[in-house]
Amino acid sequence: MPLLSIKGLIVAADGLHLIDGVDLDVEGGKISALVGESGSGKSLTALAAIGLLSNNLELIKGRIEFDNVNIAELSEREMSSLRGRQISMIFQEPVGSLNPLAPVGVQVAESLEVHGIASGKRAFSKAIELMERVGIPQPEIRAKQLPYELSGGMCQRAMIASALVAEPKLLIADEPTTALDVTVQAQILQLLSELSSELGLSVLLITHDMGVVAEIADDVSVMYGGRIVERGSVENIFALPHHPYTQMLLQTLPRIDRPRKEELFTISGSVPSPGDQRSGCRFFPRCDRAIDDCKERPVLLPGVDGAACFSPL
Ligand SMILES: Nc1ncnc2c1ncn2[C@@H]1O[C@H](COP(=O)(O)OP(=O)(O)O)[C@@H](O)[C@H]1O
Ligand SMILES: [Mg+2]
Repeated sequence: MPLLSIKGLIVAADGLHLIDGVDLDVEGGKISALVGESGSGKSLTALAAIGLLSNNLELIKGRIEFDNVNIAELSEREMSSLRGRQISMIFQEPVGSLNPLAPVGVQVAESLEVHGIASGKRAFSKAIELMERVGIPQPEIRAKQLPYELSGGMCQRAMIASALVAEPKLLIADEPTTALDVTVQAQILQLLSELSSELGLSVLLITHDMGVVAEIADDVSVMYGGRIVERGSVENIFALPHHPYTQMLLQTLPRIDRPRKEELFTISGSVPSPGDQRSGCRFFPRCDRAIDDCKERPVLLPGVDGAACFSPL
């Protein structure tokens, strides 16, 4: 049984399906990546899963099972007690997610207090321990500094420390390294990977970058226009992508076996607008393998691994 299992998720705004029938699993202790270009619906999928959709959005349909409970049916109170305790989330902008006016250690300590784990001085010293655990050097000094005095990478480590105070089973990391430079990105991914294997933490890693997927994920779901178009193990998908969109995403990766000056491949065309509610494949207008069927005929994602495509590679 997966730890998190999303089935048939539909999220709409003004009657338009922004998320259109998404199935997504995260296995216990595994790192599952959700990858796709900006605007494909990754964040909305995660926000729907933890009951944090903004007011203008509607969860039309969907079963969201966490630890064998359908959490889509929980009350707001039950859901908010689940958040932070069992499922935590970190975001793209570590510096912006912290309060600029409060010392970083005080903010980690506040998370401990909110979850009733420790309070006062004990919370602060536990915060320092956690900061050390996530690789912040000189945590006693750092804990007393304001966010702007720390680098982006250190702030993201502090956010991870805050997210882990209650020892959640699942961490949702939404573009956790997008705002960081490449070296720091690799260090944060390394940390997530260590935490996953040492604590048995499951991670839903959201990213637009196949390079990030390659670095630490076990399996990957590829999202396009509010739907999952392909899924499989990272090994299989990198070795043999079946969906033309997955292949295009892989071609955007820089490769060491190509000369440096060659320009990076970019995907032509743009992500479909939410107004594109075609019943056929939403990648159709950008696809060079499209056949007539692709235009209007719905294509389903196979039950286990594979691609939702009439003309797979
Ligand atoms: N609150 C909202 N109201 C209306 N449309 C939204 C809202 N949030 C996101 N969207 C739209 O839903 C689509 C998916 O958004 P999002 O999940 O944020 O994409 P991603 O995280 O993959 O970049 C986009 O077209 C976006 O403009
Ligand atoms: Mg997003």
